Amino acid sequence: MNLTILLLPGDGIGAEVTGAAVEVLKAVGKKFGHTLELSEGLLGGTAILKTGSPFPDETKRLALAADATLMGAVGLPEFDNAPPSQRPEAGLLAIRTVLDVFANLRPVRTWPSLVDSSPLKNAVVEGTDMLIVRELTGGLYYGTPRGIAADGGSACNTMSYTRAQIERVTHTAFKLARNRHKKVTSVDKSNVLEVSQFWRRIVVEIAAQYSDVKLEHMLVDNAAMQMVLNPRSFDVMLTENTFGDILSDVGGILAGSIGMLPSASLGESRGLYEPVHGSAPDIAGQNKANPLGAIGSVGAMLEYTFGLVKEAEAVNNAIGKVLASGRVTADLRPKRTPATTQEVGRAVSEAL
Ligand code: IPM
Ligand code: MN
Repeated sequence: MNLTILLLPGDGIGAEVTGAAVEVLKAVGKKFGHTLELSEGLLGGTAILKTGSPFPDETKRLALAADATLMGAVGLPEFDNAPPSQRPEAGLLAIRTVLDVFANLRPVRTWPSLVDSSPLKNAVVEGTDMLIVRELTGGLYYGTPRGIAADGGSACNTMSYTRAQIERVTHTAFKLARNRHKKVTSVDKSNVLEVSQFWRRIVVEIAAQYSDVKLEHMLVDNAAMQMVLNPRSFDVMLTENTFGDILSDVGGILAGSIGMLPSASLGESRGLYEPVHGSAPDIAGQNKANPLGAIGSVGAMLEYTFGLVKEAEAVNNAIGKVLASGRVTADLRPKRTPATTQEVGRAVSEAL
């Protein structure tokens, strides 16, 4: 198979983790006989510094020409005081919109060899295997009106959703639940927000088409607590953009480190794959970052965009082997000297 992939290393540790993930991708290509057609583009702060825009036209062109995009991370401290539209993050929001990737799949699992890496008790995190389905193209991130009033006396953002936006991501969550443990927990704040009441109403409507899947509703504050209290109770968690962003960081605690979490952003056609973590400028360039979130995202790409299930399984098994060997980066609090980003990437490729 011919795999046309755009690489967007982005900012901070993005380049390092993407480098390790590409090495794994190449190892998969070699082992299973797939040709890789890789292109590379600019996104985020690096793109602003080089072109003046966080999402240059050339990047847009490349993204539309590729079947899948692998992104590293975006965000640089020098833009901390810039308005949202001129920040590195605006590039990521723009590419999500252009690709119309409305369903962001964020699997959270506790690998057996990582139970001691989580600061939570073993008995709590053991066996965690949940999938957060985060709506990615609506809500507070995109709603209007937005802005800081010219007189400096007020500011607003808008959490808004259309029926169609809720319907499509709900279908995705229910279809995924069918192949898992057949339970969807829809997370909202319907005791306060109209948009959440609307969300809940539409989720209930769509759920009627999936009678084999159990639906439960949970308020977002309670969901944050249940994730650390009883994470095994979750199968698929469906939620809007901002809630999903916040709750998936809690997932990092369950997995041992946010560096472990991969993600797949899916729409009708192209896919965008990105680790859940940020650009971590404090450790950038030090060969310290955990590349397994990025490598797991490669696995997700093979599965969801290319339908290469065997290959995806091979990547995940290789990750499991490396974790079991104890050769992991510092964020996972290994008992011996931490491995470097490159060493982990190489170890996964070799395990393949
Ligand atoms: C994430 C990140 C992004 C988000 C930022 C970088 C815009 O936190 O993917 O979770 O909020 O979606
Ligand atoms: Mn986030």
